[in-house]
Amino acid sequence: MYDILRQLEEKRAEARAGGGERRIQAQHAKGKLTARERIEILLDEGSFEEFDMFVEHRSHDFGMEEQTTPGDGVVTGWGTVNGRLVYVFAKDFTVFGGSLSETHAQKICKIQDMALKMGAPIVGLFDAGGARIQEGVAALGGYGEVFRRNILASGVIPQISVIMGPCAGGDVYSPAMTDFIFMVKNRSYMFVTGPDVVKTVTHEEVTPEELGGAKVHTTKSSIADGAYDDDLQALTQVRHLINFLPLSNREPAPPLATSDPIDRIEMALDTLIPDNPNKPYDIKEVILKSIDDADFFEIQEDFAKNIVTGFGRIDGQTVGFVANQPMVLAGVLDSDASRKGARFVRFCDCFNIPIVTFVDVPGFLPGTSQEYGGLIKHGAKLLFAYGEAPVPKVTIITRKAYGGAYDVMSSKHLGSDVNYAWPTAEIAVMGAKGAVEIIFRQDIGDPDKIATRTKEYEDRFLNPFIAAQRGYIDDVIMPHSTRRRIARALAMLRSKEEETPWKKHDNIPL
Ligand code: HXC
Repeated sequence: MYDILRQLEEKRAEARAGGGERRIQAQHAKGKLTARERIEILLDEGSFEEFDMFVEHRSHDFGMEEQTTPGDGVVTGWGTVNGRLVYVFAKDFTVFGGSLSETHAQKICKIQDMALKMGAPIVGLFDAGGARIQEGVAALGGYGEVFRRNILASGVIPQISVIMGPCAGGDVYSPAMTDFIFMVKNRSYMFVTGPDVVKTVTHEEVTPEELGGAKVHTTKSSIADGAYDDDLQALTQVRHLINFLPLSNREPAPPLATSDPIDRIEMALDTLIPDNPNKPYDIKEVILKSIDDADFFEIQEDFAKNIVTGFGRIDGQTVGFVANQPMVLAGVLDSDASRKGARFVRFCDCFNIPIVTFVDVPGFLPGTSQEYGGLIKHGAKLLFAYGEAPVPKVTIITRKAYGGAYDVMSSKHLGSDVNYAWPTAEIAVMGAKGAVEIIFRQDIGDPDKIATRTKEYEDRFLNPFIAAQRGYIDDVIMPHSTRRRIARALAMLRSKEEETPWKKHDNIPL
């Protein structure tokens, strides 16, 4: 009997050793943790239950039958994050470079199936060399099975990917279909084809970092939602994010008790908007002063900074924030900002997270590069995303809400539930200067007349009251009471039910 128990321990120890001490040291030398070390940080202490640690590949080509490692390059199982169920798989780079074989894929699929059945988030930790080259089509089939489950799970359970080393070839498309991708700076990279293939095909010479490092994907491609200094910081921040999210679309987000009073007054907001309408201010200040304990988890902080997206809580409940940022490009909507905002709004709607929108937008960005780049379609994504989302929505116009962008930014007309404006709001077709130059073109040579006309236009239109007279704005509120007014509106909206016409799915402009 003791022999059998001892054998089990030996087998477990062999599996836990992965690709062996030499490769573990090499992993550490690169500043990376091993798959199991990463899981230990991600999950609550002692909560990890591993599945399939004895699974081995079944390949007989290229002498592979002589090279088996229990676990086959991926560690899978479940545990908890702050006591809440989470499934996890972590690629083990020390075993065949974390490459995906048929059996490796089956282990991931098992975890994906369980996460979907049980209704709990799944986190994938990536550090791998793509398809197991010795296996050929069996590995490709395995990827396809993982992809299909990513698609089925989309909108049902939160799916989070963390890229912690190489992520190439087949490995990139599973993360691409998850809700959030985070990367580790200087140690991770993602690309479909690596620098060698790029050189052969396009004659470009690039390093892995230049082709698909964290900087590229957080600032240029927008593939990644955030980047962190090292494994520890990345995994700790994923825990932070999970705390904001519901386990599935069937569950509410977990409330977090706070001692921050919902009627906290913020007098500084009364003087935040500069007298000069062309001067910027930081919209993040409004968000931070409105939420519980200034605890804000920003998504895509380094991309399309003219719009801010992220999670906070109000009265303990998770809220998704979308806000034009006057500090960057005057908060204008361009293609990138529209795509960023749309994807975030859709995530919130999938998981029943109420959306609060702060509006200060001078319109859509003009120019050939925007029009050639599909601004119409990208702008429509944000419009569509707001209009199709029955989740509770509260909008606050702090300053400009001009033109089409007024409609797009969660206006009443698109189905927003509660729309407030600060007294500084300017809701109009365009700014006074542009308007006067069009409707009083004959006076352009006369600066005095133009100044008078501009003043007239400002007095008549650049305020919130014309919209309020029509009921497009439910109330004009004091900036200092913003937190209280949002909190009360969200509490009132908690029982919201809204029927939408039956359809198989919509056809959002992609
Ligand atoms: C099998 C692999 C492997 C792979 C790495 N290894 N990638 N084994 N299949 N795809 C093994 C190596 O043989 C080595 O084994 C160990 O992992 C570590 O690899 P190194 O090359 O020594 O590490 P490093 O120098 O850090 O380079 C990492 C790497 C490189 C950049 C990922 O290994 C690499 O380029 N690998 C191939 C990438 C690739 O082309 N994959 C196929 C993509 S095609 P030992 O025994 O020495 O430790 C694809 C199509 C799917 O994925 C499409 C589906 C839609």
